[in-house]
Amino acid sequence: VIKLRETMSAFPPLKNDRLLRAARGEVPDKLPVWVMRQAGRYLPEFMEFRKDHSFFEICQTPQLACEVTLMPIKRYDLDAAIIFSDILVIPQALGMVVEMKAGIGPVLPEPLTLENFHELNKTGAVDRLKYVGEAITLTRHKLDGKVPLFGFSGAPWTLMGYMIEGGGSKTLSKAKKWLYAYPKIAHKLLELLTEVIIDYVVMQVEAGAQILQIFDSNADLLNKELYTKFGLPYLKKIRDSVRLKLNQKKLEQVPMVLFAKGAHYCLAEQADLGYEVLGVDWTLEPQVVRTLLKGKNVTVQGNLDPCALYAPKEELIALVHKMVEEFGSQRYIVNLGHGIYPDAPTESLQTLVETVHNITI
Ligand code: CP3
Repeated sequence: VIKLRETMSAFPPLKNDRLLRAARGEVPDKLPVWVMRQAGRYLPEFMEFRKDHSFFEICQTPQLACEVTLMPIKRYDLDAAIIFSDILVIPQALGMVVEMKAGIGPVLPEPLTLENFHELNKTGAVDRLKYVGEAITLTRHKLDGKVPLFGFSGAPWTLMGYMIEGGGSKTLSKAKKWLYAYPKIAHKLLELLTEVIIDYVVMQVEAGAQILQIFDSNADLLNKELYTKFGLPYLKKIRDSVRLKLNQKKLEQVPMVLFAKGAHYCLAEQADLGYEVLGVDWTLEPQVVRTLLKGKNVTVQGNLDPCALYAPKEELIALVHKMVEEFGSQRYIVNLGHGIYPDAPTESLQTLVETVHNITI
């Protein structure tokens, strides 16, 4: 059993703080780069590993989660690691069944309904996620200070979407129905998820996470009016409460990234929530992002189209140069605009990382 507090003080010193510096608005030595879903199926060593272990077995076994988290760090000169887990461990901890089906993705065979809503078991949910904390603590040690470690969670709206739809959905019409037809119950669910998320990510920091990302991958199907009611207030509560709770627990503050995919309809409003970093997808041009965020105290993360990794090497290098030039090197973290695809060529990620690090800033 790993005793969290005891081992924490003994974490190895951080050697590469490029990403944390950029997140805090300080000047790094080089541009930091990491990639969403960097530990995953595009890596042959991950596919080998998956032959012997189921997806959730890896998530729930700290030694296995640690090993997979380190795979991309061993292969590439990335500037951050992200703990291997999934956003759907929260619905699981609330008592819902979540299966990972090959070729389909996550399936929740008994989705949330107005009738079974009361069965969600919030009591002890974060305790049931302690394995994530143990994986984080172990990984902090194994990283040996090479790069900082991300903890993460899904955002309330994105989790609500998976829970009601029973998996991924192109329209989210069942989940959006709650917003229009049963707004009071929708708010009750979002509030419940918000409370769990707050304690869950604070636990991750207590375990050793040095930066946190909130994934609102389903934000693209809302609009300004809906996101103002059902997204932003909960995201603000998460940011404010995490700051407060870390203070109360005498833990160091960590920067937080909000990645609200497709929520360009309220990018400027996202900048007022207190997150140090905003993730953006590839559908917004860098100059437009910078214009919308003018005068705001935030770092931008993104936004290379994940499909750019299919381009020939010279073309990819040119696209990376263009992106960096357009964003500028201040308050900028290089990433893709969404997770890397399973068939992305491994050499392309090498090219991306090298190209970014070769840029003088
Ligand atoms: O490397 C990392 O980024 C850390 C691990 C990580 C996973 N999922 C592992 C994973 C992270 C940060 C996530 C977040 C996640 N999970 C999100 C938000 C990011 C995003 O892409 O929008 C979402 C929406 C999920 C839910 C989820 N999990 C989906 C939709 C899928 C199927 C699609 C896919 O990419 O496979 C998963 C499965 C999943 N999560 C895999 C991995 C490595 C592949 C499953 C397998 O190994 O069989």
